Amino acid sequence: MLTAHRAALLHFVADPEQYSTEEAHQHFPDGLLVLEDGKVKTAGDAATLLPELPAGTRVIEHENALITPGFIDTHTHYPQIGIIGAHGRQLLEWLEDYTFPTEAKFSDAVHAREVADTFLDELLRAGTTTALVFGTVHPASVDAFFEACEQRDLRMIAGKVMMDRNAPEELRDTAESSYRESKALIEKWHNRGRLRYAVTPRFAPTSTPEQLARAGDLLREYPDVYLHTHMSESLNEVAWVGELFPDRDHYLHTYDHAGLLGRRSIFAHCIHMTDNEWERLAESGSGIAFCPTSNLFLGSGLFSLERAEEHKINVGLGTDVGGGTSFSILQTLNEAYKVAQMRGEQMTPFKGFYLATLGGAKTLDLQDVIGNFEPGKEADFVVLDKTCTPLMTYRLARCRDLFEELFVLCMLGDDRLIAETWSGGRKVHDRDKSMEAGIEG
Ligand code: GUN
Ligand code: ZN
Repeated sequence: MLTAHRAALLHFVADPEQYSTEEAHQHFPDGLLVLEDGKVKTAGDAATLLPELPAGTRVIEHENALITPGFIDTHTHYPQIGIIGAHGRQLLEWLEDYTFPTEAKFSDAVHAREVADTFLDELLRAGTTTALVFGTVHPASVDAFFEACEQRDLRMIAGKVMMDRNAPEELRDTAESSYRESKALIEKWHNRGRLRYAVTPRFAPTSTPEQLARAGDLLREYPDVYLHTHMSESLNEVAWVGELFPDRDHYLHTYDHAGLLGRRSIFAHCIHMTDNEWERLAESGSGIAFCPTSNLFLGSGLFSLERAEEHKINVGLGTDVGGGTSFSILQTLNEAYKVAQMRGEQMTPFKGFYLATLGGAKTLDLQDVIGNFEPGKEADFVVLDKTCTPLMTYRLARCRDLFEELFVLCMLGDDRLIAETWSGGRKVHDRDKSMEAGIEG
């Protein structure tokens, strides 16, 4: 059974910074996205594809809409939704004052499940269909999150925090217990449906060298699991890592020494980096999550997208909730643009939409299953309503081309722009209806 969605379509087949914009994207002003069994069958001009559809195919018409692939959030923390927008601290004090107390509550599995559902509602409201997600140190936090994702059949990656020092007693595990518990979670959840596991040491300051080594053991035993951590976010943090690991050459070396770099390793932030660290990240194929709302909010610094591009390092966007201040990848792009401005760098709206979709997929090594509308990809997409607010309607009417239109969508867009979110060919968010996830499709 086929289903088709008719609207303007936009997707990327390559990075617009490495290819020309024309080669990198496809735009069909009156397009048709044809789905079969939760996957993309084809995408193209409605005028060409409509006559080829079998008689009786359901065609859903979306007025004044642009359909893009679902947004991909390459770094966020579901347990931190309750501390989003907490005033007055920078990273290390923010962790002590806000983050650790809130994460301590996740020993309670019922609480964890409630928060997981609230978090997923917000993610889908923002148009995000895949995310790389921190749990807490408690294995039950990961069970709760994956159970909530499984119920909605979402494509998600998550893991239990590993943290055996420099944190409150009730949030600490040990090198051995973190290994054992992570291993059990990998066995239970990794590759179950659309779920994947990420080995998740919080960051070098909260892991002993022994714990980082055990994380490396897990990656060797399970070569297709992910590694997800933080790296060079604030200057105080970088200095602290220097004191805690006097034998290592630089911050990245604490991870590299433990065997934590690779194609499925994602490092959030990477702001205060030495030349050696840029080179080693590139050489290892590791990816970066760029988290501008968090980096500005916590006063951490200005990430250089240009340097990552120079080194051909995969970069995705991260909301980093709750250090970040928005679930919206569009608002994340808004602030990414401003970070580039402050650095004297450029970020075009084509690059922005690429990062939000195929760029995120590549960073997560999921470019074969999500990120654009190539045939066979999972049907994860968003329907953007170009008349969502009076200002949006007014401003878009004054755009001369797609470039300008996409830029305005990034600058003014938020969850009001997301009329519908679809995952695996099923509608999982409808802005105008309070509906349960996944009941239509
Ligand atoms: N570094 C270590 N833990 C965290 C966290 O929870 N959030 C952010 N933004 N940075 C971190
Ligand atoms: Zn984070």
